[in-house]
Amino acid sequence: MNRDLHSIRRDYQFDDLLEDQAGEDPLALFDAWLEKAIESDSNDPTAMTLSTVDADGAPHARIVLLKQRDESGFSFFTNYDSDKGEQLKQNNKACMTFFWPALSRQVRIQGKVEKVSREASETYFASRPRASQLAARTSQQSHVIENRGVLQAAFEKQEQDFENKDVPCPDNWGGYVLKPDSIEFWQGRPSRLHDRVCFSKSDTQWLRVRKAP
Ligand SMILES: Cc1cc2nc3c(=O)[nH]c(=O)nc-3n(C[C@H](O)[C@H](O)[C@H](O)COP(=O)(O)O)c2cc1C
Repeated sequence: MNRDLHSIRRDYQFDDLLEDQAGEDPLALFDAWLEKAIESDSNDPTAMTLSTVDADGAPHARIVLLKQRDESGFSFFTNYDSDKGEQLKQNNKACMTFFWPALSRQVRIQGKVEKVSREASETYFASRPRASQLAARTSQQSHVIENRGVLQAAFEKQEQDFENKDVPCPDNWGGYVLKPDSIEFWQGRPSRLHDRVCFSKSDTQWLRVRKAP
């Protein structure tokens, strides 16, 4: 790569995050920031980096989509037999990182993950486009395959098997919900004097501190 990456930088000046704006409830603040990200028309505003750790302590990260945020936590859907599913089986601690570049904002959420109810997974699965349902049945996510043709043939077989029928949710597909222990809000500011407001949970209360950027 010959391009000079050193010179790629920008000054952040969309907003600031003072304590009275942050308030006492990080979940309400998250909802307000997500709403703003959706309104600001950024691509994939619900996309986040999900970080997990494997049995050897090695970290893994990938993008998934947030599908629900309610009193139970932060939910996403995936294949339970995927690499992330195997890692979460060994160690249910995970981290979600949202980045909304147009707003110069990042949110980091750490906590423990558990499976959502079978009923919730099936309800969400039923709401997905048919092609996504068939793809979920087709793909042994994270497993090595010989070539793309194998995937296409498996998809076509599913299409035939379920012609004129509802596509059932596979047993190994469903949701996880992350129950947050800590949530950090980062608001980019001019001259790299960014705001970092961090909440951590103690019993039923959220404690708020500010960290140096
Ligand atoms: C924008 C975007 C959204 C994605 N959303 C999901 C998702 O909601 N669930 C999912 O399992 N994978 C999603 N993926 C694919 C994952 O990043 C990843 O490739 C896949 O889950 C396999 O990860 P693993 O092998 O670490 O388990 C998405 C990828 C991108 C780029």
